[in-house]
Formats: sequence, structure tokens, C-alpha cells
Amino acid sequence: MRDRGLIYSALALFLGLVTFPAWHNLSAHVTGKGPEVRLPVNAKQCVAPVEYMRTSHMNLLIDWRETVVRTGRRDFTAAGGKHYNMSLTPTCLEQCHGARKDFCDRCHDYAAVSPPCWNCHQDAKAVLRSAK
Ligand code: HEC
Ligand code: HEC
Repeated sequence: MRDRGLIYSALALFLGLVTFPAWHNLSAHVTGKGPEVRLPVNAKQCVAPVEYMRTSHMNLLIDWRETVVRTGRRDFTAAGGKHYNMSLTPTCLEQCHGARKDFCDRCHDYAAVSPPCWNCHQDAKAVLRSAK
């Protein structure tokens, strides 16, 4: 009877050790920082809500591309009424996000995706906020 406390402690310790890898992975996942992207300094709002952009920026870009290439129309009116030129490099990069390595690449490298867009499209021309 006197040993019961000891037995329970030993059992708890044993369970803790055995399940350690699972806990460790879980906490690493929860506290994992994710990609550190450089955010625009001269704009407070994106062309669409951030939540939408996080999951669907590729759809918006493809939409832009098809509208421009098929209809020649370049004007995009955002939900707030602001107008943008539907253009990958001049608008997304040069007007807001700067060099792609600081924004697009940091996240794409993290997520292991490599869109083929840059085979043809240029990076932001200026060294626009590309300092590290
Ligand atoms: C094979 C070369 C090539 C590839 C790869 C490519 N594009 Fe393009 N893209 C073009 C050309 C050419 C135009 C027409 C340029 C114009 O009329 O201003 C264009 C136009 C666009 C436009 C509208 C015009 C502008 O200035 O941006 C967008 C947006 C666009 N592409 C997005 C993308 C995205 C996103 C990807 C990757 C998924 C991509 N493109 C991949 C060649 C390419
Ligand atoms: C915060 C993370 C993040 C940032 C920043 C980001 N992307 Fe992405 N992007 C992703 C993820 C994740 C995917 C893959 C989604 C999937 O496959 O379902 C993706 C996919 C894409 C695709 C489709 C690729 C394909 O082959 O289907 C394009 C195009 C794209 N991103 C363009 C851009 C551009 C241009 C920028 C910078 C202006 C950018 N992304 C910034 C996370 C990001």
C-alpha cells in the first residue's frame, strides 16, 4: 500500500517518456513560426482580403492573367472601390510587396511550391525594399 504513490509516479514518468515524441512534435508544430514574409510598408490593404489571399491568391492571379490576355482589360476594382492595374510585377511586386524573394519565395520555399511564373515574368525592377 505504501508503494502506491511510487508506482503511480513511475507509471506517469513511463507514460510521459513513451509519449514524449508525440508531445514534442505537437508543441513544435503549434509554436512553429512558419515562413517569415516581409510585409509591405507603404500599403495597409491588399487587393483582396488577407484571408482570401492566403488561400486563393493563385486564383486571383490566374483570373487577372486571363482577363488581361483575353480581353485586354487591365482595370481591377477592389471591394473597397480602389482601382488596380491587373499586373503581376508592376502591381503585386513593385507597388507593394517588393522583391519576390522577400515575400513570394519565402513562403513558397517553406511550402515547397515553385510556380513557373518567373520563367517569363520579371522580379521587381528596383531594389525596392529588397534589403535583408
Ligand atoms: C511562358 C511565359 C509565361 C509564363 C510561364 C507566365 N506568364 Fe503571365 N504572361 C505572359 C505574357 C506574354 C503575358 C502578356 C503580357 C501583357 O500583355 O502585358 C502575361 C500576362 C500575365 C498577367 C497580366 C499582365 C501583367 O502585366 O502581369 C498576369 C497577372 C500574369 N501573366 C500572371 C502569371 C502568373 C500568375 C503566372 C504563373 C502561374 C504566369 N503569368 C506565368 C507570359 C507568361
Ligand atoms: C504566405 C504564403 C504565401 C505567399 C506569401 C505567397 N504564396 Fe503563392 N502559394 C502559396 C502556397 C501554399 C501555394 C500552393 C497552394 C496549393 O498548391 O494548393 C501557392 C501557390 C501559388 C501559385 C500556384 C502555383 C501552381 O503551380 O499551382 C501561384 C501562381 C502563386 N502561389 C503566386 C504567388 C505570388 C506571385 C506571390 C507573391 C506576390 C505568392 N504566391 C506569395 C503560399 C504563398
